[in-house]
Amino acid sequence: MTPGVGDQGEVSKSLAICSIRTVCYSLRATLNKMKLLIAAIFAALCVATFAVDVHEHNKVVCYWNSTSFERSGPGKFQVDDLRPALSLCTHLVYGFAGINADTLEVVPLNPNLDTGAGYAFYRMVPQLKRSFPDLKVYLSVGGNADPYESTHKYLLVTETSENRRKFINSVEKIFNDYEFDGIDLAWQFPTVKVKKNRGTFSSLWHGIKKTFGYGKFKDDKEVEHRDGFTLLVRDLKTALRPKFKDVTVTVLPHVNASIYYDARLLAPNIDTVHLWSFDQKTPERNPKEADYPAPIYESYGRVQEDNINNQVRYWLEHGTPGSKIVVGVPTFARTWKLTSDSQISGVPPITTDGPGAEGPHTGIPGLLSYAEVCSRLTESAVGRLRRVNDPSKKYGSYAYEPYNSDAGTDGIWVGYESPDTAGNKAAYAKAKGLGGVAIVDISLDDFRGICTGDKFPIVRAAKYKL
Ligand SMILES: *[C@@H]1O[C@H](CO)[C@@H](O)[C@H](O)[C@H]1NC(C)=O
Ligand SMILES: *[C@@H]1O[C@H](CO)[C@@H](O)[C@H](O)[C@H]1NC(C)=O
Repeated sequence: MTPGVGDQGEVSKSLAICSIRTVCYSLRATLNKMKLLIAAIFAALCVATFAVDVHEHNKVVCYWNSTSFERSGPGKFQVDDLRPALSLCTHLVYGFAGINADTLEVVPLNPNLDTGAGYAFYRMVPQLKRSFPDLKVYLSVGGNADPYESTHKYLLVTETSENRRKFINSVEKIFNDYEFDGIDLAWQFPTVKVKKNRGTFSSLWHGIKKTFGYGKFKDDKEVEHRDGFTLLVRDLKTALRPKFKDVTVTVLPHVNASIYYDARLLAPNIDTVHLWSFDQKTPERNPKEADYPAPIYESYGRVQEDNINNQVRYWLEHGTPGSKIVVGVPTFARTWKLTSDSQISGVPPITTDGPGAEGPHTGIPGLLSYAEVCSRLTESAVGRLRRVNDPSKKYGSYAYEPYNSDAGTDGIWVGYESPDTAGNKAAYAKAKGLGGVAIVDISLDDFRGICTGDKFPIVRAAKYKL
């Protein structure tokens, strides 16, 4: 072979290869496009058929106490204040509807605001989905917002199929009238009694009156109520499935899940369970001793009522898929009054004397919104709080103003959630493969952005750790 011929041969060979390659490339490109197309069609089909959860592990479920509209001054929360939150939240839970004790139907608790001609929030709020098309809006029933009745209506509903039917029919009617995407059952089950601390303060624990809620009521039909609730959820889901409506459950603080929630049987019929694993310590239940309100883990050697990890474990161990478990994150602080009897170190558990003074926006003793807390953390603030962070990321942060022995004025101990601790809870949910976080509630976050300029810093911090 002469070099010339050889060269030509090589050239034509490579030309041939080249053109084959070109054809191949363009064929492959077409195939890829088709694949993409097929994949896209498949994905669309999947979404349509199986309603794939795009927020499987990053749900940001935002509860909203709509009655916050009735606060005065900077605490007043209006429908327009929702908008900046809704670019962060995947779900908005409207709080709260109640149950009519006579008819056992779900009813608005604040008819003027909820359904009245003036405001009609039930109509207006789901309409926000036009601006936030991925948002789901749920209506929540109970949430400790519904006054307790001596008939124990939340238990009564579960007791017979006739009672369950009345409730379910009324929910169906709500869905016919309003554009909610689901119903959340924040069921007001009886709570566990306060555990006595066997510490030095045990004498102080005697004679604590508490007449709210179920008071001294002892549920002799726990099993019946649990099984009735399971049937209620099953039948409710059966009624709502054809309408593509979600059913979720919220476990309120101090409700013992192992008594009232049959996790295994509930799992197929609920979309998520929201664990309000906070308020472990509150000034109402524990007036004489302040402690972390919402720890993730128990403190070493401490009588802690419960914690997030324990509650999550119950649901996981009883067959709930991780993606259906959502961890509650409070936006509010619990506060106690510090007196001359309180240890000056501020370290919990600390001796206290009932709820701390009310805040200027919320006006509720023993509670401060995050906006109220953060405005007292700055150097120059009146009533400045000393802040103690949580490098362990397990228990939460606190801040306090000690008792002033010169002036004889009370101090305050504040167990609060900060963007950092909310982020820790979200990081916990992520590490455990859970469904996300539930913020309770957005009206008590810094919705005006007075702390740092960012609106909803707690929602934001939690979302970005998921
Ligand atoms: C909702 O906010 C109102 C107004 O501040 C308050 O009275 C009520 O207790 C709150 N409800 C819940 C369930 O937190
Ligand atoms: C919840 O109930 C279970 C079963 O009755 C019991 O073993 C457990 O101690 C209870 N938990 C709390 C926190 O009271």
